[in-house]
Amino acid sequence: MASYDLTVIGTGPGGYVCAIRAAQLGMKVAVVEKWPTYGGTCLNIGCIPSKALLYASELFEEAGHKFAKMGIKVSAPELDLPTLLKFKDQAVDGNVKGVAFLFKKNKIEAFAGTGRILSTGKVEVKAADGKTQTVESKNIVIATGSDVAKLKGIEIDEKRIISSEGALKLDHVPQKLLVIGAGVIGLELGSVWRRLGADVTVVEFLDRILPGMDGEVCRQFQRILEKQGIKFMLGSKVTAVDASAKLLKAQIEPAAGGAAQTLEADVVLVAIGRVPVTEGLGLKQAGVATDNRGRIVTDAHFATNVGGIYAIGDVIAGPMLAHKAEDEGVAIAEILAGQAGHVNYGVIPAVVYTSPEVASVGKTEEELKQAGIAYNVGKFPFTANGRAKSNQATDGFVKFLADAKTDRVLGVHMVGVEVGEMIHECAVLMEFGGSAEDLARTCHAHPTRSEAVKEAALAVARRSIHI
Ligand code: FAD
Ligand code: NAI
Repeated sequence: MASYDLTVIGTGPGGYVCAIRAAQLGMKVAVVEKWPTYGGTCLNIGCIPSKALLYASELFEEAGHKFAKMGIKVSAPELDLPTLLKFKDQAVDGNVKGVAFLFKKNKIEAFAGTGRILSTGKVEVKAADGKTQTVESKNIVIATGSDVAKLKGIEIDEKRIISSEGALKLDHVPQKLLVIGAGVIGLELGSVWRRLGADVTVVEFLDRILPGMDGEVCRQFQRILEKQGIKFMLGSKVTAVDASAKLLKAQIEPAAGGAAQTLEADVVLVAIGRVPVTEGLGLKQAGVATDNRGRIVTDAHFATNVGGIYAIGDVIAGPMLAHKAEDEGVAIAEILAGQAGHVNYGVIPAVVYTSPEVASVGKTEEELKQAGIAYNVGKFPFTANGRAKSNQATDGFVKFLADAKTDRVLGVHMVGVEVGEMIHECAVLMEFGGSAEDLARTCHAHPTRSEAVKEAALAVARRSIHI
């Protein structure tokens, strides 16, 4: 029987990063993966393919609507959807092969099949042909990730009623796309298909989009999306979808109850969240506890209630983000190696990769108010930023939230072009316990969009220069 220091079940960003870090630290590492390629949701059907489609569809839109006003004359762009999808598939292929290469480089042994924990120290791997083998391991890390949350009574066929998976490979542009859920997936993939020509309506249960992100940023972001043509029905829920005719008929009710209305669509995208994957893992048999949402319960060191069994990533509590899973993977590998692995959950950036983007790190204004923490706000709009003006891309703003007494930065929220790349200086600042003054006194290159970050930091003390 093969024997290892560590066996990781699942090779998403949590699992594969954990395996690599553990191998770097000298452990003999095995991974178990049930899919034909490594990289999990993120690389195969999540972050990577969605960003390839967002990139290509954004350029398609720019060529169609923005080139002319800059004096670039091109004939109206034509969509070649099969090639666009191939571009996306190539992005996936390159990334998943990258993980396979890293496994080899780090001498990580990969077992193909579904992993099931038999007991502490023993994982059974069942291959696609039904053959089983058992792997012995001092420690086991569960990194089995998450799957699409289903809506009761609405059956996903990935053709007309789709999840994010189907939305990454539609073979035609729907005339009318109805998106259920104004979360990250709904807005990113809704944007992709709107840019490619679909008429998109988003139905959201709550009275706002992107719950959990800063309210002021999201209100402005919603207005921008509406200008782009996306329609929103907030405070509404889809209770049924009739798929018996050529056009789907969605029944929509006010969230608070009341008269229903029917909306027709060619395609309905269900994007109401994701649920942890634990089925078939043998958790019950091994005695591993889960919470009321099916997530594996862990302590601050990723340990489950059963000795030698740990869990990270989407399958445990916390934001379902690839970089959160990765950081947990590194932390648990270091903890198992006797080091002080740690994840600072207060400084995990979040980015929505639409155009413009939304980016945030730390506390929102709503959270600070609820916690009764006194804070100062510094804001700066891109309309007053030289680079944004020169590119005529001035939507959005940067907002700093700093402790009223100490000026320590508690949160930063942005909407605007490329803010997903700009949030990280704020994350570094927060990791070092920095103040708005610290950032405001840091020289920023001109002309850059990042100058808006500096100006927003200056605005905390009411001393922005360019407004
Ligand atoms: P996963 O990536 O879900 O990987 C789990 C792996 O475990 C899979 O490969 C699965 O096959 C395997 N597995 C499960 N059970 C078993 C078993 N019993 N035996 C063997 N193998 C098993 N996050 C971001 O941060 N940025 C983004 O831009 C972003 N975009 C996204 C876009 C979409 C459309 C979706 C759906 C998600 C997106 N996410 C994004 C979220 C991100 O994909 C997840 O947070 C991340 O993949 C979680 O990593 P993980 O390692 O915990 O699990
Ligand atoms: P989400 O949790 O972000 O949003 C789901 C939305 O659906 C919420 O606004 C919720 O209020 C709404 N909703 C729930 N039930 C509803 C109903 N019955 N009717 C109408 N609305 C309903 O989930 P989403 O968008 O599916 O994404 C899943 C996960 O994937 C997220 O946790 C996110 O972190 C991750 N992800 C991250 C990305 C990024 O970092 N850029 C991109 C895509 C996904």
